[in-house]
Amino acid sequence: MRVLLIGGGGREHALGWRLAQSGAHVTSAPGNPGLAEIGSVRSIIPDSPAAVAGAAVDFDLVVIGPEAPLAAGVADAVRAAGVPCVGPGADGARLEASKAFAKDVMIAAGVPTGRFFAVSNLDAVDKALDEMSPGPYVVKADGLAGGKGVVVTDDIGVARAWARDCLDGRFAEAGDVVVIEEFLEGPELSVFVLTDGLTFVPFATARDYKRLGDGGTGPNTGGMGCFSPVPLPPGLLDSIHADVVAPVLAELRAREIDYRGFLYTGLVLTPAGPRVLEFNCRLGDPETQVILPRLRGDFGSLLMAAATGEGLDGMSVRWWEKAAVDVVLAAPGYPEATRAGDPIHGLALVTHLDDVLVFHSGTRDKRGEIVSSGGRVINVVGMGSDIPTARRHAYDAAALIAFAGKQYRTDIANDESVHEPVEKGAM
Ligand code: GLY
Repeated sequence: MRVLLIGGGGREHALGWRLAQSGAHVTSAPGNPGLAEIGSVRSIIPDSPAAVAGAAVDFDLVVIGPEAPLAAGVADAVRAAGVPCVGPGADGARLEASKAFAKDVMIAAGVPTGRFFAVSNLDAVDKALDEMSPGPYVVKADGLAGGKGVVVTDDIGVARAWARDCLDGRFAEAGDVVVIEEFLEGPELSVFVLTDGLTFVPFATARDYKRLGDGGTGPNTGGMGCFSPVPLPPGLLDSIHADVVAPVLAELRAREIDYRGFLYTGLVLTPAGPRVLEFNCRLGDPETQVILPRLRGDFGSLLMAAATGEGLDGMSVRWWEKAAVDVVLAAPGYPEATRAGDPIHGLALVTHLDDVLVFHSGTRDKRGEIVSSGGRVINVVGMGSDIPTARRHAYDAAALIAFAGKQYRTDIANDESVHEPVEKGAM
């Protein structure tokens, strides 16, 4: 199977690696040095529907990793060119590209979520903030802002100023509407399914660590590490599939949206039960880097079945009874003022270690030398029979990789609740 994989981060490196394990020939665009070791890389503008669809005709399947091409309608153009594609069209991608649309779908589908107001002027902002008093206040730009459009604060003045900045154009049209929502307290859970538009197969769970610093301190990032599986009370994941995923997919169908690809549900496990924080129209990054190493079977066939709409009905996914822990090594200055161009040493030392995988996120090949080129630089994934073992493998390997100003969290997957052996059937 010839696959064109759109994207060039750690998620796409993990997707390409797992597809190649299924025997697929992977061409990535724009790719990265890790993907270049697996297959070929092409320079195609990833967010251009015409450019991707033009290239797609030479492939059997297109897999789109990031949200921006999906929101731009790249999957629509690829399908219109007659090539099966993993990823929803622009209408389905609105689940991620508009927080107000996602809330509207949640309400219509009866999905538990926090209270919210979608507003577009300062008077409405003030009324909404009063409703959420005494805080904490959660203020989000409605559209895609690369993970930078959210503020969570106890200070109503800061919340108001953020809403005003959004409305004043800080995120261009992505901030024309501002969503002010209830602060949800509890551990987070990332739940993934693959759907062909009618039915879905559950994927493994993961927990992401979004703040830069240990103990959940510092600024929000794209994710500084994660682990899979997440130990959950019996029945909880089944109830999330039944009460959240299935009704949302049914609601999309009722709106005549043919959603094919991954649906990522971000939840908070509050004392009152799970509440949906957000939907994303793709796999998570770095969650993919811990989920796909646990996946058994033929990944390529599974993706093809979802993309063609021929049917996931009756298909299932099995998971290795192993834990995976990902530690993200980030560049100095990330996330506010990332420095790029630092040579990365030690990759060859870890590449052949047992129970360790390395996925490139923000790297480039500078005349034969791998240097940093983005905020999140390298993912070091440890595998093991339980999370503490996987964690030790990840951190031992992370210590062998060096670049100037390397920063990483030291507390990924260290909480007591995850110190159990991986149970049979755990997702
Ligand atoms: N890990 C968060 C995301 O992929 O959006």
